Parts: sequence; structure tokens; C-alpha cells
Amino acid sequence: MNSLEQLVVSAQADFLAAADAAALENAKAKYLGKTGQITEMMKGLGKLDPEEKKAQGALINAAKVQIEAALTARRDALAEAQLQLRLNAEAIDVSLPGRGRSQGGIHPVMRTWERVEEIFRSIGFDVAAGPEIETDWTNFTALNSPENHPARSMQDTFYVEGNDSTGKPLLLRTHTSPMQVRYARNNKPPIKVIAPGRTYRVDSDATHSPMFHQVEGLWIAEDISFADLKGVYLNFVKAFFETDDLQVRFRPSYFPFTEPSAEIDIAFGSGPLKGRWLEVSGSGQVHPNVVRNFGLDPEKYIGFAFGSGLERLTMLRYGVNDLRLFYEGDLRFLKQFN
Ligand code: PHE
Repeated sequence: MNSLEQLVVSAQADFLAAADAAALENAKAKYLGKTGQITEMMKGLGKLDPEEKKAQGALINAAKVQIEAALTARRDALAEAQLQLRLNAEAIDVSLPGRGRSQGGIHPVMRTWERVEEIFRSIGFDVAAGPEIETDWTNFTALNSPENHPARSMQDTFYVEGNDSTGKPLLLRTHTSPMQVRYARNNKPPIKVIAPGRTYRVDSDATHSPMFHQVEGLWIAEDISFADLKGVYLNFVKAFFETDDLQVRFRPSYFPFTEPSAEIDIAFGSGPLKGRWLEVSGSGQVHPNVVRNFGLDPEKYIGFAFGSGLERLTMLRYGVNDLRLFYEGDLRFLKQFN
């Protein structure tokens, strides 16, 4: 092997041994740089005569071409290895399923709330909302529960800081009935409204929660009777429970704001609750004193009101036996409704 051939072999070996781009550039300088061996040999050609110069020059050039080819090949190989390294490090597993966004669902009591609105809207009832912090007058007095009347103790109340304009403490409404007063004082008869919303009582067990939901119903005109209440409520429960196979009964009861008053019970003709009378609502013909507090003449206007628990309706519809489940936020429970 002549010295030029040896030079090519040693350049190829040096380049292959270079582990990275910087090492490769150093190795290149040794052969092709300003003082590299090939460069020095080229410079030496000047001293030779023309014939020799031509022959030797061609040989050096051929060696140079080979060294340059080895350099380029090593450069490409290093760049490729570098790229592979990066690709591996930044690998994206396209077969991995996306994180997605799980779909939320509506709370079962809210679902009942929406269904109740839909059903009553379909028979011409307006839907109204009112404040959860009430005055003593709207929550009690206007509803014919005068101060110190024993009926007030039926509903143990949460009082909040602050007083109304008469100096009486404000309270969390114990029922949606104050909405009868608010709505009737602001709308002209005929009055046909439901008012669903949150209500509060000092009460907590398997069937009572300190915060719960009611829907108030009120229909006041010149000729609205108990028969209308029965028709409306029967229509409602049939639509709500999606069955015609149920009965409604009115059981005498007492509320200060209705006279006569009745509890509404329903009984299913089939299913797991078949034949049992289940209480779903308070109701009655609106008391003349209350009609007067509406700002209306009780000699002229008459009608009915009812107040039903939305939790109660939800429990019966879905067969839930503990009301506290609605407020624990346990997804295993809540997911069953969506
Ligand atoms: N407000 C009553 C309650 O919470 C229910 C009711 C409403 C009764 C309207 C009669 C008429 O128990």
C-alpha cells in the first residue's frame, strides 16, 4: 500500500471513530484543513516538474475525493443518528387513546325540576323564580301565619343576618309558598304559575335535608275549584311518572294558607310501589286572607295552590330510598341517571 492509499485508509478510520460532529471536524482538519496532510501534499507539487506534477496531482486528487466522500458519509451517518435520537426522545404514541373529555350530566333533582317546568308550561302555567332569603311577612304573615301562631313551628327556620324594613330578621324561605304572594301581587288575574326553587328547614334525616327543593303551584281566577286542582295534578303526575296507571287521592290536612287543605297522595297500579298510597304534595283552596294579601278581593277571586317536594318526586320516580344520596356528590350514584 503506498502512502496515499494509507492516508485514505487512516482518514476513513479516523472519521468512523469520530463520535460526534465536533470530533469529525477535528479529524477532517488533520487531512483537509489548511495544514492538513492532503493540503500539504498539494503544496509540495509546486516543486515537481510538469510531467510528475500532473501524475502526482491526479493521484493526490483521487485520494482527496475518497477522503471527502468518507467525510460526507460520516457526517450523514452522525446527522441521521442524531435525528433518530431526537425522534425516540420526542416519540408520540399515536395509538394511545386521547384523554377525551368525559361528559357531565344533569343532577337527578334538577332533571325533575326541568321536567316539572316542561309539563306545567305545556298546560299554560308561567314559571317564576323568587328569592331564597325572605322576609317574615312573605314567608309567614301574608300566608296567614300570624306571629306566635302555633302553625309557624311546623317549619323550623334558619334566620340570617340583617332585618327587613320593619326590623324583623330575614330568613331562608321554609317553602316556596311566599312566591304565591310575590307573584300574585305583581301579576293580574287570571294567575297561573309554578315556582320551583330551593327551600330550607332545620331538619336532617333520611327523608329530610336542611336544603331541599319544592315547586309551588298557584291558579287564581274567578271560578277555579278543587276539581281543577284534581285535574291539573292528576295530569301532572301522569305525565311526570309516564303512566296512566295511577290514582290520586286528597287527604284532609291543615295549612294556614289554604282552606280546605289536603295532602295529595298517589298510588301506582303496577311496579314496585304498586298499591301503596304515597304522599307527594300539600295543597288546598287558597285562604281568603291570603287572597286579600295578594291584593285581590276574595269575594271575586278563588283558586288553589299546591307545594310538592322535588326530591320526593325524584325518589319515587327512580326508586331512591335515601334523600341524602342526592347531596353526597357520589358519582357512582349520580352517573346512574345519565
Ligand atoms: N307550603 C306547604 C309546605 O311546604 C305546601 C303547600 C303549598 C300546601 C301550597 C298548600 C298549598 O308544606
